[in-house]
Amino acid sequence: MDTISRNKKPTSIKWRFLSFVIILAIAFFVAIVMTSRILESNLLEIRVFDSAQKVNDISTAVTYDFVNHNSQSLYNYAVSQGLAANGRILLLDSSGIVQLDSYSRLNGTKMGNLEIYEVLEGDSDVSYGYHRIRNGDRDSWTLNSVSAIIDESKTVGAAVLVQSIDDVVSGVNSVRIRYIIIYLVSLAIVVILFWLIINRILSPLKSLQEGTEAISEGDLNKRVEVRGRDELASLGNSFNEMAQKLEDVDRIRSEFVSNASHELKTPLNSMKILTESILYEDNVEESVYKEFLGDIDHEVDRMTNLVNDMLLMTRLQNMEKKDLVFEEVSVISLLEEVVGPLRRIAESKEITLKEEYGYTGNVSCISGQLQHAIQNLIENAIKYNHEGGSVTVGTKEENGEIVFFIDDDGEGIPEAEQEKIFERFYRVSKSRARETGGSGLGLYIVQTIVRLHGGRITLESAEGEGSTFYIHLPKKGNDREKE
Ligand SMILES: Nc1ncnc2c1ncn2[C@@H]1O[C@H](COP(=O)(O)OP(=O)(O)OP(=O)(O)O)[C@@H](O)[C@H]1O
Ligand SMILES: [Mg+2]
Repeated sequence: MDTISRNKKPTSIKWRFLSFVIILAIAFFVAIVMTSRILESNLLEIRVFDSAQKVNDISTAVTYDFVNHNSQSLYNYAVSQGLAANGRILLLDSSGIVQLDSYSRLNGTKMGNLEIYEVLEGDSDVSYGYHRIRNGDRDSWTLNSVSAIIDESKTVGAAVLVQSIDDVVSGVNSVRIRYIIIYLVSLAIVVILFWLIINRILSPLKSLQEGTEAISEGDLNKRVEVRGRDELASLGNSFNEMAQKLEDVDRIRSEFVSNASHELKTPLNSMKILTESILYEDNVEESVYKEFLGDIDHEVDRMTNLVNDMLLMTRLQNMEKKDLVFEEVSVISLLEEVVGPLRRIAESKEITLKEEYGYTGNVSCISGQLQHAIQNLIENAIKYNHEGGSVTVGTKEENGEIVFFIDDDGEGIPEAEQEKIFERFYRVSKSRARETGGSGLGLYIVQTIVRLHGGRITLESAEGEGSTFYIHLPKKGNDREKE
């Protein structure tokens, strides 16, 4: 399923853009056609109105001479009016035969145009029509306006004013051509601009796609080039941050594997040497056997502790919110269970273990885990101490927090090392670690547990003077015991 969707070629944004441009071009084109049509019909309407008024005046003015057949007067009038109106005047009798043509060419001809019939048959007093006339190899357009000549309420003829409307047609055509030029230029600008914008968007997307592909193929040091400060730039930055985190996680994981293998190898090597030395030695005394087996046993313990710590660490890291079951426990009973068994170990090393409880209320915690953390800190305080030293375990309430502290007057931790000791497998002195048997996971586990409790761990230490570790837990949700 996954591979099918991966192999499917995505519809290119460029194609979508092209269809958008085509729709835009069609819309523009329709708009141009419509506007030039509207312009044309508006201009013609003005012409028709003007012409109708003129022909109406003419028909009224010629009625007397027309009825009385005053040809000369009619002709003079028609010619002068024709010139004034920049057109041709025809006077027709009631059967449509030209009685007078101001151009003197159509006299006696029968006119059969629709608008003339309309007027002569009394359907309308005024009418008009457009006509195309083939003039050599070019067309020319005329407007015929017709008005009835009425004598004693009877239509006795019609006056026709023929005017050229070529100026309107060619005017509209030149406007149309200008529109089309503007349209083509703006379309070209739109296409170029959009193309540039699309490429500006697509090129970082393409490099992001290449980046994700490289990362999914395991090339974790792949980064994308980020330009500008727009949303795509911030997407690029987020990608680079994500890649950096993945690289960090990968590095930490491989460091962990190499450290863990190294830590496991050390006791295994010792065990191998110890076993071989008694295996290949003849006549070994029983006491030597016992001593060597004791050493092997010690190494097995070390390995078991290490493996247990590693298992605990993974379990803590994989814990989810739903796994965290907090309970209210008294700090005194919580600490008593930890301090009791450790007191004996302290005494065997001639170290005094003191208790100093400033806060005796309840704490909301996962008790097993919190006890494990405190136990680790006390073990360290005993381990990195000297004969005759002392360790104090205590509680106090400070700034709304419950604070557990473990203080010792042991060897202390150099300032430069104080942050590092919380890292996995970190030990201040690796050579001493062989005697103490520590693997360097203890404080990392303590810190993880404290963080799971929503708290923090701090440290005060001076080399040669001792150290104090503090676990700060939020008081919220903890009942204070009545004193
Ligand atoms: N109270 C202390 N005084 C002096 N040094 C300390 C103290 N606590 C920790 N350290 C130093 O910090 C290092 C890390 O401590 P951590 O508890 O993580 O590991 P560890 O004690 O060596 O091994 P383990 O995993 O068995 O606890 C120790 O190796 C030690 O050098
Ligand atoms: Mg430790």
